[in-house]
Amino acid sequence: MFKEYFQYKGISFPQIIYSEQVLQMVENNFQVRDDDIFNVTYQKSGTVWMLEILSLIRNNGDPNWCRTVPNWDRGPWFETVLGYRIAQTNKSPRIISSHLPVQLFAKSFSKSKAKIIYTVRNPKDVLVSLYHFASMFRPYKDPGTLDQFLDVFLKGDVPFGSWFDHVKGWMNLKDKENIFFITYEELQEDLRGSVARICQFLGKDLDDAAIDSVVANASFEAMKSNKMSNFSLSPRFLMNQKKSAFLRKGISGDWKNHLTPVQSECFDRIYQERLQDLSVTFPWDKE
Ligand code: A3P
Repeated sequence: MFKEYFQYKGISFPQIIYSEQVLQMVENNFQVRDDDIFNVTYQKSGTVWMLEILSLIRNNGDPNWCRTVPNWDRGPWFETVLGYRIAQTNKSPRIISSHLPVQLFAKSFSKSKAKIIYTVRNPKDVLVSLYHFASMFRPYKDPGTLDQFLDVFLKGDVPFGSWFDHVKGWMNLKDKENIFFITYEELQEDLRGSVARICQFLGKDLDDAAIDSVVANASFEAMKSNKMSNFSLSPRFLMNQKKSAFLRKGISGDWKNHLTPVQSECFDRIYQERLQDLSVTFPWDKE
């Protein structure tokens, strides 16, 4: 069963941890609350990093929640079978994570005052991160060689579909005032400034000491040594972190250590083609 994907409305999902029934319920039955905060990403774009930041902001910088409750309970992925139940029973204000493409997202969001933070990352780094993740996350198919996986990734033949479609779909909502877009690279470049911007978007008034605590406790090192955030408590049947750590490198530009010039050019060509009608410039476009 594991390692086979099923299709839901043209998008691949791994078996067991996802089901068609739950995906349908997310879309049609999930009751979004006005004070919900959604942490939405294409996978490997900094989801757990943003989840840590949001968990700390929710508690005015106090790290106790992050040190005592696993991240998947603090901000469950509501499209997973288990996460759906946790999300439904969590107390408000809820943090809810999701990798869903926009067309599969909870319909009740559009009639709510809930907020979405969408984090985007350089897709070449997403590719490299996902390549390593696919080798350690047991529900995913073996990625093969990086060259084979590059082809699969560019075609969008991976769980949650194409990076290009995901980003384009969500970026179409960029003018909505309850959706905030940020990049992994901005978090890297200026975490403090990014946290301040996120607080402003959420209407959370944190003092300097609280913001300092968010920044310190959401650092790569702090998260890597926190068992509630580094997935060391995740069941062994799901992850084999001896193959690759979930919190692997935590840097921007690691693709340069993995892609050959030919692979990089091939990526660039498809990137130009697929994103030419998107009127947004990302930090990596200027490189
Ligand atoms: P790498 O594999 O490049 O290291 P997601 O949470 O969406 O699955 O993304 C995982 C990626 O985010 C991994 O990238 C991981 O190391 C990185 N990440 C997680 N927490 C981070 C942090 N505090 N600082 C920088 N990168 C972080």
